[in-house]
Amino acid sequence: LAALGTTAAWAEYPEKPITIVVPFAAGGPTDKVARDLAEALRKPLNATLVIENVGGAGGTLGATKVAKAAPDGYTILLHHIGMSTSPALYRNMQYKTLDDFEYLGLVNEVPMTLIAKPSMAASNYAELSKWIAANQGKINLANAGLGSASHLCGLLFQSTLKVDMTTVPYKGTGPAMTDLIGGQVDLMCDQTTNTSSQIESGKVKAYAVTTSKRLTAPALAKLPTLDEMGLKGFNVSIWHGVYAPKGTPKPVLDKLNTALKTALKDADFHKRQEALGAVIVNDARNNPADHKKFVEAEINKWGPVIKAAGQYAD
Ligand code: MLT
Repeated sequence: LAALGTTAAWAEYPEKPITIVVPFAAGGPTDKVARDLAEALRKPLNATLVIENVGGAGGTLGATKVAKAAPDGYTILLHHIGMSTSPALYRNMQYKTLDDFEYLGLVNEVPMTLIAKPSMAASNYAELSKWIAANQGKINLANAGLGSASHLCGLLFQSTLKVDMTTVPYKGTGPAMTDLIGGQVDLMCDQTTNTSSQIESGKVKAYAVTTSKRLTAPALAKLPTLDEMGLKGFNVSIWHGVYAPKGTPKPVLDKLNTALKTALKDADFHKRQEALGAVIVNDARNNPADHKKFVEAEINKWGPVIKAAGQYAD
């Protein structure tokens, strides 16, 4: 086994396609980041990257699949803040976030937007908050399941407003967006990588952004922050990171981390992501050790918040 871990044994890696597991349905924001990143990784890794969408249970099914995959560098995970919220939401999760993965590096941070079905009459946040107050008990809020980014944002939104909404979980906010556009659900808090084009095309109504500062992307620049709208201190943006199964040999991890850092400098990757409001991470969290420390801090940050807001959870 020691021989297996030597650099020589892995010098030829990668010798076959690498699968990036996306723990949500195709067509959503996590899928979008993964596909853009896969394109930017192709050359640095000199490999074919295959996206496998494994949705369900707020991303924990896909994360479980990678935690239990062979530690050979051919199955990796693209996940997000859900890595740090799921531990507080699932009592019998099939993996330990800090023990069962190798941390490869952080990728980007993505703001969120509060959006509604196209038939929503409210023309601004003030009118929307009146509609919410008048329709308590009848509002359907879409998300991607307990542990998803849309769940976290919706949970904070409900607990800040002290309003309980019926949450409708999907395997990702790609399919959720279809139902929102169709009017089957009323509201959703989702990432700009998924909502920008729908807002721009008028397919959904947008009311606010969830970050502490307004956004600059043209389709989003006129949206106020929720903090400005009275939800003091509301500040949620969704980080995404890359993970491999625990025990993946160091030479493989080094190749993956080096390729990731190259990909994060790729001009086309920047262009695609920044056009959708995403910000590429370019700091110590691109390093495995700092990325892991960051996720641990996020677990400690969001756990108590989720427990405190729990009365408004699904
Ligand atoms: C989330 O809410 O966690 C993501 O939007 C899910 C997805 O990428 O579909």
